[in-house]
Amino acid sequence: MMQAAAPLPKLSRIPPDIAAVTDYESYARARMDAGAWAYINGGAADEWTLQENRAAFQRIRLRSRVLRDLSGGHTRLRLLGQDFAHPILLAPVAYHRLAHPDGELATLLGATAMQAGMVVSTQASITLEEIAAHAVADDRAGRPPLWFQLYIQPDRDFTLALVRRAEVAGYGALVLTVDAPVNGLRNAEQRTGFALPADIQAANLRGMRPLQLAQAPPGKQAQAGEGVLLGGALMAAAATWRDLAWLRDQTRLPLLVKGITSAEDAVLAMQHGVDGIIVSNHGGRMLDGLPASIDLLPDIAAAVSNRVPVLLDGGIRRGSDAFKALALGAKAVLVGRGYMHGLAAAGAVGVSHVLHMLRAELELTMALTGCRDLTAIGSDCLM
Ligand code: FNR
Ligand code: LAC
Repeated sequence: MMQAAAPLPKLSRIPPDIAAVTDYESYARARMDAGAWAYINGGAADEWTLQENRAAFQRIRLRSRVLRDLSGGHTRLRLLGQDFAHPILLAPVAYHRLAHPDGELATLLGATAMQAGMVVSTQASITLEEIAAHAVADDRAGRPPLWFQLYIQPDRDFTLALVRRAEVAGYGALVLTVDAPVNGLRNAEQRTGFALPADIQAANLRGMRPLQLAQAPPGKQAQAGEGVLLGGALMAAAATWRDLAWLRDQTRLPLLVKGITSAEDAVLAMQHGVDGIIVSNHGGRMLDGLPASIDLLPDIAAAVSNRVPVLLDGGIRRGSDAFKALALGAKAVLVGRGYMHGLAAAGAVGVSHVLHMLRAELELTMALTGCRDLTAIGSDCLM
């Protein structure tokens, strides 16, 4: 087998040939282990949904209006009672220390510089308390609050303790991810034999009792496709609508559900009292064969009918992608791999540069389509 080249040192300045978010990919790849790269970039199975997330954006055509008065224009929005300078948030992504030694703290610094909302993963490689403490220390006027992404753990007492920790640390909302009761089968990751390095862990989950999985050999995480899944302990412990009802009763924080791909489930989620819905196919990492998230959005937005805000992630690599999502009914978007590439290549500077490009492209798209603010972006901006 060919020996993989050792990762290059992180960039200390932005190379002049980076003009778009996707230009960070090759810089990131050269600065990560092959296994970590496969983990971050891989999608489930044939990666059809992963590719479709991008391809679907590229099929959507814009429509412009000219000579409108755009003076006083801006990208501000209020979401769940919180102020955002622009509608581009950082999606929850596990283990930022795989991409950069400073992990989530570097990401936070980049997000702060660009006044971007950030959703911290349950599986962050730095504790939610440490991230929140840095957010307070780094804060500049106008940075929106952090949100915490929750995975319901087999141990519900531990899950509740996580919620309380997020409340105490000052998180502004909970994002309950519901599309990953079991890990997707990511073939690229399997082929590299990726395993988390010993010094990188889900820091928030330290001390949690591991689920006893009869079929999994000791030390090995159970995965879909290994032995009996449906009758096993993993599915028996998986969250259901009852858990959403329980969670809603436990916290007064705004609660969003992430991973909604059908109008029926969006309606059910609203009946359970959620404050927001995130249309997502988990970046193509779970169920291969799902449509692109942007193609799922119109039906879900119609069913929700502005009763709660709808957000979207999956395949956002251009500010014009964010614009298209807003035109189809999203209030805001989240970016996953795009900022992880910035982080892996150049740390906080890379994250803020990615966010800067996305925001600049969004504003340019608004200017050229004649939209003064986000409320002006509607279906009439698309062909
Ligand atoms: C994710 N995603 C994710 N989602 C979540 O709710 N909790 C998590 O811990 C993670 N972890 C995670 C790790 C990695 C490496 C990736 C790429 C993604 C999904 C993420 O929040 C988001 O839905 C997608 O990344 C959006 O798609 P794009 O922007 O990556 O195309
Ligand atoms: C993933 C899990 C952590 O996408 O959400 O890798």
